[in-house]
Amino acid sequence: MSKLPEAVAQRRTFAIISHPDAGKTTVTEKLLLFGGAIQVAGTVKGRKADAHATSDWMQMEQERGISVTSSVMQFPYKGSTINLLDTPGHADFSEDTYRVLTAVDSALMVIDAAKGVEERTIKLMDVCRLRDTPIMTFVNKLDREGRDPMELLDEVEDVLRIRCAPVTWPIGMGKGFRGVYHLYNESIHLFSPTHGGRIQEGEVIQGLDNPRLDELFGGEAEALREEIDLIRGASNDFDKAAFLRGELTPVFFGSAINNFGIREFLDDFVSYAPEPQPREARERTVTPDEDKLTGFVFKIQANMDPNHRDRVAFMRVCSGRFQAGMKLRHVRIGKDIKVPSAITFMAGEREQAQDALPGDIIGLHNHGTIQIGDTFTQGEALKFTGIPNFAPELFRRVVLKDPMRMKALQKGVEQLCEEGASQLFRPLNTNELIVGAVGVLQFDVVAHRLKAEYGVDAVFEPVNVNTARWVRCEDPKMLEEFRRKAADNLAEDVAGNLTYLAPTRVNLDLTRERWPDIAFDATREH
Ligand code: G4P
Repeated sequence: MSKLPEAVAQRRTFAIISHPDAGKTTVTEKLLLFGGAIQVAGTVKGRKADAHATSDWMQMEQERGISVTSSVMQFPYKGSTINLLDTPGHADFSEDTYRVLTAVDSALMVIDAAKGVEERTIKLMDVCRLRDTPIMTFVNKLDREGRDPMELLDEVEDVLRIRCAPVTWPIGMGKGFRGVYHLYNESIHLFSPTHGGRIQEGEVIQGLDNPRLDELFGGEAEALREEIDLIRGASNDFDKAAFLRGELTPVFFGSAINNFGIREFLDDFVSYAPEPQPREARERTVTPDEDKLTGFVFKIQANMDPNHRDRVAFMRVCSGRFQAGMKLRHVRIGKDIKVPSAITFMAGEREQAQDALPGDIIGLHNHGTIQIGDTFTQGEALKFTGIPNFAPELFRRVVLKDPMRMKALQKGVEQLCEEGASQLFRPLNTNELIVGAVGVLQFDVVAHRLKAEYGVDAVFEPVNVNTARWVRCEDPKMLEEFRRKAADNLAEDVAGNLTYLAPTRVNLDLTRERWPDIAFDATREH
């Protein structure tokens, strides 16, 4: 039994991981529908064409059909409070996704039944494995011809190195899709395609021996009984402890677009998925039952709402209770700040949070003093760990079309880079602004947003930088000497950290050899 207060023990904070097009957006929408957070789900087509999905904020996402931002959606379900953190699907945003995954207690993996395990799923699973995040699996699009379900589970086991325990089992697929059988409740939920985005409960038959099954399925009923026997024999049983250790994933089948199989998933999700978990800080482990508030910032987003030119820092509450008006210690800068209000994310609607509990995400208004990785407490000097920054792999110089807009450009680039997906470097010896990113699409995003949100026309030009390393040295004298001698290759990042911008790998290796006492880090803990 959990010792946590009931309301905390009922929190479920998770994210969806999937390869683009597997159905993450559709599943998200349907979860909100079943959670009562929205009344009617638009079809994905309708939604992409006109209004934006509850989880989409940017015009660009609709243009490109990819999710650039991560949002947070809270909705209630059967006595639980669910926090769903959206993760950007495109490969170029892996860092951002990585950090979102540091803020969840479990993840849902969505797989396309026809495609099986895809490249992006593999990468995201690797990230989840770093923290042994418990994973649930939803195999989607059973209304289409797909691969044999047993073969799909084998693939997940082989490629993703996680054992599968089917919880529901599909009856047929494609044109012959008849529904799912719940191996533990022993109920058969008959498939009925849903249109118009409303929940329509199909017929549920209790028990495989039920004569209603023979009535409906005729000769197929016997075949189904045999198949289920086989599946029970050939697959793993669900083992909650192994699931919580990240070693086994319960698997559900369905068709998100038809609202089918989602209810089965949600019902089990609230009972299987872990409550808010303890978090490591540099000084100690923080548990969610502690009275005093602690939390860490895993994401910053500028201009979420174009009508309010604001920046929001997303903080995961790790312990205690957030209440509007309370004073928080911003540990990195050592100052107490009064937080008159924060934002919660009720299914995409931004609301003023009156209070928030461990597992919840709140949005703090940020005027430039909050960075990704910052810890907030009620006075204790704590620093949560495990939220890294990765050295970018691509670099461009920002060039302004209208030189009079320099101030606006600086502000825009600074604020967008605070979000962490791209990084700003200011060379010590020039006035250039150099932006680094892990994927080339990031530059388009920054250019687009500079124009849309700051009214600045800028282009990105190639620059002679191949890689960046954060520089550290125990000996301040030596650091000073390095700073002088290597100044042409040195820059400061947005937080003022010294960074070496190497024109080539060879140059980096040589510099390392020449300065053996200086550390050149490829990642930086925020
Ligand atoms: P993503 O966020 O993971 O990228 O996927 P998204 O939900 O946008 O779904 C990708 C495509 O798969 C969409 O089609 C969507 O309609 C479709 N889809 C989602 N769930 C199901 C399902 O259960 N069955 C079937 N048959 N299709 C499903 P699209 O062609 O990109 O858009 P549209 O033309 O359908 O609007």
